[in-house]
Parts: sequence; structure tokens; C-alpha cells
Amino acid sequence: MKEVAMNQTEINENVERVMLSGEQIGKRVKEVAAQLNKLYEGRRPLVVCILKGSVIFFTDLIRHMDMPLEIDFMAVSSYGNGTKSGQLKVTKDLTTDISGRDVLIVEDIIDSGNTLYNLKKLLNSRSPASVNIVTLLDKPERREVPMEPEYTCFVIEDEFVVGYGMDYAEEFRNLPYIGVLKRSVYEK
Ligand code: PRP
Repeated sequence: MKEVAMNQTEINENVERVMLSGEQIGKRVKEVAAQLNKLYEGRRPLVVCILKGSVIFFTDLIRHMDMPLEIDFMAVSSYGNGTKSGQLKVTKDLTTDISGRDVLIVEDIIDSGNTLYNLKKLLNSRSPASVNIVTLLDKPERREVPMEPEYTCFVIEDEFVVGYGMDYAEEFRNLPYIGVLKRSVYEK
């Protein structure tokens, strides 16, 4: 019988290498949560999980946030360039009225920036007190529109990453680490 510890560190056969271990992620998530604790001290933020990729990051992050907070969920996808014909498709909207609220958007990855550019515009149109973004990963070299998250856990190179919530064709979200996917998986 395999030991539990082995299962946690065993590398999936489709993964080229582990970019960030569960331990590294956990340490950094705690650091960023400490920054958020200062920012939202004495306030009651609405923390928004952008489905599906950020779900694991979100659940880890909020457990290190120590002010009273509320949570909500949203599912979106973006088409085109945020500065021109950018369109956001909302497949699941918030159930909370965000007018006058401090909103914290939790995202797993910023790539072209189109999704968050359009999402921030949409949420700002609902008269919140503030909107901040915290992202687990940022790939700044892929940016097509100006989008600077207020909080970033890790800036990474342009590689195909999976795990810790992130998928390829809906697979690999449950890996407890962030791995670089083998090219043969997505080029076949
Ligand atoms: C990913 C990610 C962001 C978006 C970033 O979502 O969660 O929402 O892409 O890309 P962009 O900066 O180029 O707009 P995805 O569409 O993969 O959905 P998922 O979270 O459900 O996997």
C-alpha cells in the first residue's frame, strides 16, 4: 500500500515538472492573506471566487483571512480585446448586491488580461465601494490589455500550467501542486 505522503508528491505522468509545490503555494498564500488582513482590517469584504480555476486558491486564501467576510461565486469567459470589442460572457452571476461593498476578486491566473479587464469594468458599473484583484499566478508577457492585479502570489513564465485548480480539458484541477504540462499532451 502506498503511503499518503507519497501520493501527495508523486508527479502525474502528464506533468513535465513541478513548478510550485503545495508547500511553496501554502507559504505564499499565507503571506498574501496577511497583506489582505491589513487592507481589510475593520471592514467586511465580499470575496468573489471566479469559477472554476480559482476554487482551490480561494478556499485556502479565505481560511487565512481573519476579518468577518462574505463569499460569492461567479463564472465568466471573455472574448476579444478588452479595449476594443471585449465581451464578457457571464455564465453564473453574483447573488450579492455589491453596491457600497468592498469586493475582492480571486483569480487563478491572468494571461491576456481580457477576462479581468472586462470583469472589473462590469463590477465597477454596480457601484461598489472598492474592487481589488488577487491572483495566484500572473503571466505578464502574455498581456493584451492593461491589467495590473493589486496582489499577486507568483509571477511566472509563459508555460502551460495545470493543477491546484487549473485544468487542461477539465482534467488535472485536483493536483495538489502547480505543474508544467508535457507538450505531448496538448499537441497531440
Ligand atoms: C482562465 C482564468 C481566467 C482567464 C485568464 O479561465 O481563470 O479567468 O482564463 O485568461 P485571460 O487573462 O487571457 O483572460 P478559464 O477560461 O480557463 O476557465 P476556468 O477557470 O473555468 O478553467
